[in-house]
Amino acid sequence: MAKLQKTTVEMEGRFEERWVLVEEEPPAWEDERPLNVAGTRVARLTGPRRVSGAARYVSDVALPGMLHGVIMRSPHAHATVELDVEAARAVPGVLAVLSPADADVTQGRNPIFQSEPTFAGAPVAALACETAEAARAGLEALAPRYTVLGFVTDAAQALAEQRLQEDPVESETGDVEAGMAEADVIVEAEYATAAQVHHALEPHCGVAQWLGDELHAYVSTQGIWDARTEFARAFELDPDRVHVTCEFMGGGFGAKQGATTEGMVAAYLSRAAAGRAVRVFNDRRAEGVAAGHRSETHTQTYRIGARRDGTLTAIEVTSVIANPMRGWIDPTTTPARTLYRCANVRAQAIPLLIDVEPSNAFRAPGIMEGTFGYESALDELAAALSLDPLDLRRANDVDVDQISGLPYTAKNLEACIDRAAELAGWTERGALRDREHPDGRKRGLGAACQIWWGGGGPPAHALVRMGHDGVVTVVTGAQDIGTGVTTAFAQVAAEELGLPLDRVRVEVGSTRYGVYAPVSGGSQTMPSVAPAVRSAAYDLRGKLLELAGDVFEVSPDDLQIVDGSFVSLDGALREPIVEVTGKLGKAQLVGTGSRGPNPDGMRVNTFGCQIAQVAVDVATGEISVERVVAVHDIGRVIAPLQARSQVEGGVLQGLGFALMEERVIDPTTGTVVNANLEDYKLPTHADCPEIVVEFINRPDPHASTLGLKGLGEPPIVPTAPAIANAIYHATGVRVRTSPITRRRFLEARAG
Ligand code: MOS
Repeated sequence: MAKLQKTTVEMEGRFEERWVLVEEEPPAWEDERPLNVAGTRVARLTGPRRVSGAARYVSDVALPGMLHGVIMRSPHAHATVELDVEAARAVPGVLAVLSPADADVTQGRNPIFQSEPTFAGAPVAALACETAEAARAGLEALAPRYTVLGFVTDAAQALAEQRLQEDPVESETGDVEAGMAEADVIVEAEYATAAQVHHALEPHCGVAQWLGDELHAYVSTQGIWDARTEFARAFELDPDRVHVTCEFMGGGFGAKQGATTEGMVAAYLSRAAAGRAVRVFNDRRAEGVAAGHRSETHTQTYRIGARRDGTLTAIEVTSVIANPMRGWIDPTTTPARTLYRCANVRAQAIPLLIDVEPSNAFRAPGIMEGTFGYESALDELAAALSLDPLDLRRANDVDVDQISGLPYTAKNLEACIDRAAELAGWTERGALRDREHPDGRKRGLGAACQIWWGGGGPPAHALVRMGHDGVVTVVTGAQDIGTGVTTAFAQVAAEELGLPLDRVRVEVGSTRYGVYAPVSGGSQTMPSVAPAVRSAAYDLRGKLLELAGDVFEVSPDDLQIVDGSFVSLDGALREPIVEVTGKLGKAQLVGTGSRGPNPDGMRVNTFGCQIAQVAVDVATGEISVERVVAVHDIGRVIAPLQARSQVEGGVLQGLGFALMEERVIDPTTGTVVNANLEDYKLPTHADCPEIVVEFINRPDPHASTLGLKGLGEPPIVPTAPAIANAIYHATGVRVRTSPITRRRFLEARAG
């Protein structure tokens, strides 16, 4: 029976009470349930399509008569612009021109094209053209005339001028001064982190086409359903007249939510060009200046008090963030408020306004930067107390969320710490550091822990249908942004239905099926959609057993499905599933399912511990990360191979943040000087350490009927501080600014 129910829905730490449609759910998989397909290592189902080139990315979408869409972007940090729109329109092959005059061309409520652009990279106009040559000629004919205005791109200057984006966000629990007075040791330190650019290998892109009053959009997006809503609102369409497709994508990491600017511009250009298909693709430079980034934390200042035994007595944290996205301001202080037990905490986050592109969500936004500062500071505290850094963390473990006071549904952080220590050889770290290595480098280990959300929740729905051949198709409205959820959904359905994996197909990436799934953000796709898939498969299994009961003249209660066959409990009957489904003819059996509500009065979180081993050439400052041990607690693991791959990706992104990635802005022009992949350093294979991945793999008893939680974000969170702490352990040099380049290391060493 379906019913409407109120439940708490969480997205990246923001909580909301919401009505959701929930259907009856099957009982949870019991902890000791033997699993045949789920929980086993299987290769990505999409692998052959990816490596053969058959996978259809937006760049592969070629529609008849498709036009080249181009966006003109301001080269100046702040200016006014005048354009020869009519001259551009007169260029042969230019079919549509959008400019600041088109004030109704909006995203959210804001006009997309600005007559007074406020960052270098801001869109000022767009063209739809028959050919790339016509596009070039059209851009030239626009002949932009800029009047350059004053700007501030330097966070220190913005702070000095008190240029605030909005009021600081403040919170206090307990009595911080009393807590400090109780402390035997107080550590104070200031950290900073550079702006990190997503640089997904597939740039932001969209193809749009109007067919009558229907909009068909192909967008590289983490959220086809959010895109659908955005398009429908912008064009005042019934949402069912909008079809959004994203079958494969080459990375988003938070910067590809909803329709994206590029998708919106494609749709507006298509409308202006009489409905002809239009393709808009960012070039690499646009990705570096206008596609979002992780905010720079100009400063993170910590004052932490503790007793001799390591018990935290008070924490004071202030973060100053440049151009954060709305909603991502206080998360920079959240690790200090939640990762370990402390009754007295004061936090303040100050959002500065600078004239650069607005930041965008980036894999554990705010939390990851904040964890760099907080876990570095705790390492400094451990040194001041002469405590084992992991013992300090164990001493302050906590089983309730300290902001809400609610208990966690499950928490195995100590198990993560213990296992990571074992895998990393933590107890021998002193010997590793003190040994003379043949290459003359200093080696050491550093650790850091992580808390993130990732519980997911309703609404999320699924259909599972089966035809006469006994093959099932799982229909979801999710998108696989590269994580491998397609394979994981197949594993869940195969497990529930008692089918081998090769009898299961999965549909993702289209709103056409009318089956809703949430945006793939906040680590919520698996925990939201997989339980819906399971519910739908359970529903279908019940129907199959009923039919089998009719055909074999036994009670359905005496039957189960094992490896594609109906098997009676006494073992006397064993018949392939097609003995029943073969009688369906053209009919299909359909099971439906939805994600049930979240538990009341509890918080669903993920945890983990990573330990890095580094080798440092103290003379040159060259740092290599040799090994990262990552042990995470996400409840039950459905797809171990894909989960492992998520952790490897997160560790590499964290490594880039720790050692090399930094968006550099020239303060005299206000422009990004490294908006390319040569000067903006991303980790490559040569930088890749050995990555040892393990999961605690204990089902969370309250996290859906599958006991699983998300993994998109958790693995990036603790990597950078683990590396910084390892550098300190190896060399005694504490570098408090990321990325820890050779120069920063040598400067810190010089003191
Ligand atoms: Mo959010 S950074 O898209 O998971």
